[in-house]
Amino acid sequence: MIIEREQDVTAAARAVMEQTSDPRLREIMVSLVKHLHGFIRDVRLTEAEFREAAAILGELGELSTDTHNEIVLMAGSLGVSSLVCLLNNGDQGNSETAQSLLGPFWRLNSPRVENGGRIVRSETPGVPLFVHARVVDPAGDPVAAAEVDVWHASPVGLYENQDPEQADMNLRGKLTTDAAGRFWFRSVMMVGYPIPTNGVVGRLLAQQHRHPYRPAHLHALIAKPGFKVLISQVYDPADPHLDSDVQFGVTKALIGNFVRHDETHPSEADVSAPWYSLDHVYRMEEGDAVLPRAPIK
Ligand SMILES: [Fe+2]
Repeated sequence: MIIEREQDVTAAARAVMEQTSDPRLREIMVSLVKHLHGFIRDVRLTEAEFREAAAILGELGELSTDTHNEIVLMAGSLGVSSLVCLLNNGDQGNSETAQSLLGPFWRLNSPRVENGGRIVRSETPGVPLFVHARVVDPAGDPVAAAEVDVWHASPVGLYENQDPEQADMNLRGKLTTDAAGRFWFRSVMMVGYPIPTNGVVGRLLAQQHRHPYRPAHLHALIAKPGFKVLISQVYDPADPHLDSDVQFGVTKALIGNFVRHDETHPSEADVSAPWYSLDHVYRMEEGDAVLPRAPIK
């Protein structure tokens, strides 16, 4: 097709995309051209901006390594990761879901912890936290013998592999649900933390006067054959950034029942006030029990 006017470019590119033999790839490419061309017209993208955009995409790739993914960080910072999650869970976006973002800090082979045990593995100053959770199926019945990975940042906002002060695998554990679908453990209360701001994402946040914080949260990855692997985060409602998560991860369903207690713990002799509890129910969904690839090997 010989192009006469700017409108012709879209028609020409679309016609080529329509010839893609794989139906799903065809659907994606036709829509991509439609929206990408529409976006460029919408903002009247300049030549200088186009060159800058190409350089930024290159930089996103260059900044991504085995331990850091700037592309995923940008996707999160634009709300894309959260949108993909919500569209693909909770009956394809029609109902509440416990699914959330995996984040970059899940590790394979967390050490096993018995129910009631601790995931604190080195001196970690912080207020004690007692988590009591239950895993249920879509009907609300208990899911027994599910494998549960839990992990969270320290009271200074760092995961163990970011922080030489913490022991390997500190604040991580692998538990198994009992016959009633329950798992429970002791840890310390986590705090929110900033995402890395030394790259492209950091420059964008600065230009937009956005803070880089994620509100305090507990990660879980729950696996049991017959269910979709549940990747969840539970957020502290008292966190000052609860309604401004830089990664747009907080949904109503993920706000946890974290409770601060200002009296001595009723059964743990070494716990004086204050301490926290979290009671939570994780609801699994139907689907394939396929584990994601661990961001951290
Ligand atoms: Fe996290």
